[in-house]
Amino acid sequence: MISEEFRPIRTRERFLVFGAPSIEQVEIDELIQSLRSGWIGTGPKVFRFQNDFASYKGGEVTAVAVNSCTAALHLSLIASGVGPGDEVITSALTFCSTVNAIIHAGATPVLADVDPNTMNIDPADVERKITPRTRAILPVHFAGRPCEMDQLCDLAGKHQLILIEDCAHAIETTWHGKPAGTFGRFGCFSFYVTKNITTGEGGMILTSDPASADRLRVLGLHGMSKDAWKRYSDEGYLHYQVVDAGFKYNMTDMAASLGIHQLKRVETWWKKREQIWQRYNEAFAGQPIGLPAAPAENTRHAYHLYTVLIDEEVTGVSRDEFLARMMRHNIGAGVHYQSIPEHPFYRERFGWEKENYPHAHRIGCQTASIPLSPALSATDVEDVIAAVKHSLTVR
Ligand SMILES: Cc1ncc(COP(=O)(O)O)c(C=O)c1O
Repeated sequence: MISEEFRPIRTRERFLVFGAPSIEQVEIDELIQSLRSGWIGTGPKVFRFQNDFASYKGGEVTAVAVNSCTAALHLSLIASGVGPGDEVITSALTFCSTVNAIIHAGATPVLADVDPNTMNIDPADVERKITPRTRAILPVHFAGRPCEMDQLCDLAGKHQLILIEDCAHAIETTWHGKPAGTFGRFGCFSFYVTKNITTGEGGMILTSDPASADRLRVLGLHGMSKDAWKRYSDEGYLHYQVVDAGFKYNMTDMAASLGIHQLKRVETWWKKREQIWQRYNEAFAGQPIGLPAAPAENTRHAYHLYTVLIDEEVTGVSRDEFLARMMRHNIGAGVHYQSIPEHPFYRERFGWEKENYPHAHRIGCQTASIPLSPALSATDVEDVIAAVKHSLTVR
């Protein structure tokens, strides 16, 4: 219990929202311009954002914008021909939508445990989970740290498996100089509000195959023939044909209005988060908590999440009590993630036992994410540090 003389580090009026985005005047102006133009759906701004994103990723890929990373994952699986009877191996420590996308494609998700240090999918466990029905591997670059791509690519090559990367945390990530999202058949990105850049809701799929990109565009807009999005433009009404049973996954120009300007600041923001990350490392050294593993050599971490591990036996404070105390200090915190087998739906449907994924399970019970955003001022960062230290104090 927290004693009576508890003094919050911040007042309620200054509540620090976890993952608050940085929105500047240019985004607001661009959005207003879209609203006034009469064309707020999919249009030229989406195409510009796609091109800008592909250039940011090195230019040798095609980018297809969609309305979420969940949609990106689902479309990528469908476009890869993954479906009923197929198994897809993914991480036991991820957001539910990674697993749901596999289920919605009609395939069976199979979980591999994570490495206890990096929190990324363990290639050795992936290999153990491969069966004759395995069709794809769906690694997640957790918190922005790249997975062991050499080993995963080798496994995919050796067993002729499709590789689809969940890059929701990994816009700026590279592995041995190669950008995340360019290793497999498809790379899927998120622009959800808390992500490194945001469009409110949004996603992007990268592929090195232009024909696959065309198919993704068709599948993402009801299965209507190519360029159907232009049917109301000043080029005159265009008839379309439905060539597939598609989905309603297209990005709007309103969303792209934010994305094109957010992307211009992606590197400046990355540097800012790196500085905050280092300040946290320095401030928390010697505290009785687990800190994120240092980025591996010859890789680039996207610094999307700063996660600490709270082991109650060491600190005397449970993770949930820690979160409650951070809240009382008026600082938002998150959990990324409870392991997938913690959730009743998956346990009931697939019979998964959390004890069979011991590392993901332990991390899921101990992890807490503290604010890491370019919107944080130096005072905010020091407030977070003070609140963490205070919340760990046994009373
Ligand atoms: C690892 C991971 N995958 C997928 C998603 C889904 O992203 P979106 O909200 O854009 O659908 C998220 C979102 O939080 C995520 O963290």
